[in-house]
Amino acid sequence: MVVISFKYIAPVYNFLVKALGIHYPERVIRLLVLRGENRSCEILDIGGGTGLLAERIISKNPGPCLHFTVLDPSCEMLKRVPKMENIKTVQGRGEDLPFDNNTFDRVTVIETLHHSDDPSALFREAFRVLKPRGVMVVQEPDQEKFLVKIIIGLERIFLRSIKRVDEDLIKKWGKEAGFIGRLTLRRSQQIFWKGKKRAGE
Ligand SMILES: C[S@@+](CC[C@H](N)C(=O)[O-])C[C@H]1O[C@@H](n2cnc3c(N)ncnc32)[C@H](O)[C@@H]1O
Repeated sequence: MVVISFKYIAPVYNFLVKALGIHYPERVIRLLVLRGENRSCEILDIGGGTGLLAERIISKNPGPCLHFTVLDPSCEMLKRVPKMENIKTVQGRGEDLPFDNNTFDRVTVIETLHHSDDPSALFREAFRVLKPRGVMVVQEPDQEKFLVKIIIGLERIFLRSIKRVDEDLIKKWGKEAGFIGRLTLRRSQQIFWKGKKRAGE
């Protein structure tokens, strides 16, 4: 099971992310996650791991407005989430979220979809827990790219059940879950998708 493997990766995870140059582009954080929010904003980070995204966003937007929930199946990853007042950790899986309907303003799924046992179920759950007009943001490694192929190949050896994820599948899962979605931009190694839950759904 994936959890077992991330148990061993957890102590070196932040170091690996830096070494491999996996990062969260500023433009994406600004445009897709926050977009000038100054009212209270509840963000759920599915597969949030060691809380890198939460820490980054909160350190750039200090104050009481943002509340992050970092959800991950791995206790070892969650143990490394920075202890901050507005970051909460929850152990769980993206396919079976322990939250009520219409709870969050934003859901982020960063570098995690290909680890999910059932990405389609994860999209359905993200849709369910988002408030109407809520936004889901997905960042995935572009599995067509040479460097990503090598990393995914290694992940397939050391972590089990790594899924094929591509643009078409992301669009399909998003649409089936009920989102109005679109690919937002493509960087050299990554795909970004943004989906919105219509008002009244
Ligand atoms: C590559 S890490 C990404 C962590 C974080 N999002 C980041 O960008 O630093 C993938 C994470 O997905 C988590 N994961 C694996 N299966 C999952 C599932 N079914 N639901 C939610 N998270 C899962 C792993 O425990 C791990 O923390």
